[in-house]
Amino acid sequence: MIAPSILSADFSRLGDEIRGVADAGAEVIHVDVMDGHFVPNITIGPLVVKAVRAVTDLPVDVHLMISDPDRYLKEFADAGADWITVHVEACTHLHRTLRCIRDLGKKAGAVLNPATSLSTLDYVLEEVDLVMLMSVNPGFGGQSFIESSLEKTRELRRRLDAVNPEAGIEIDGGVSPQTIGRIAEAGANIFVAGSAIYGHSDYRAVIARLKELAGF
Ligand code: DX5
Ligand code: ZN
Repeated sequence: MIAPSILSADFSRLGDEIRGVADAGAEVIHVDVMDGHFVPNITIGPLVVKAVRAVTDLPVDVHLMISDPDRYLKEFADAGADWITVHVEACTHLHRTLRCIRDLGKKAGAVLNPATSLSTLDYVLEEVDLVMLMSVNPGFGGQSFIESSLEKTRELRRRLDAVNPEAGIEIDGGVSPQTIGRIAEAGANIFVAGSAIYGHSDYRAVIARLKELAGF
């Protein structure tokens, strides 16, 4: 699945920017929520998620880069998120948080920063619908892909296959025509792309190219 990140969209024309990628073959809309505390940037909250929800039938993938995400899970669920992903670095009670997301009727995802070990997921691998690996340090679009994410993806696929083979692997950061082939080959199946899509003048062409290079 290709998941354009609206972080790189033109926010003065957000509705058009979402319809534009949906019409061009996107399968998920990725929304980056940043609080200026967990990450050094501030973006958007439930109000914008609600606006995104109103203009598309695609799944809305809410990436919470916020401290203490438990406080806001219900608000984002009510705003129309379909998937809610939380950073393991921000969750004191990760197991409880993942259960809470599922209890709200949403798909639950755990996210790891580039420096965070896969072992942090050892006891929650069956509690997730997907795991997202950050392949840049979170906070900004347009950064370079961190190569060690490839081996991490391969190892994560092995671990999930053993206990939860249905779970997806989403990669976020530096996904582009230059990197997506290797990321797909490593075992990821959901690809977030911000600048590679919204920085391109022809959304249809770039999404088709990304899908072709990913092998689907
Ligand atoms: C970074 C965000 C990403 C970002 C990716 O903190 O989580 O979703 O939009 O941007 P690109 O695809 O430009 O690396
Ligand atoms: Zn993201």
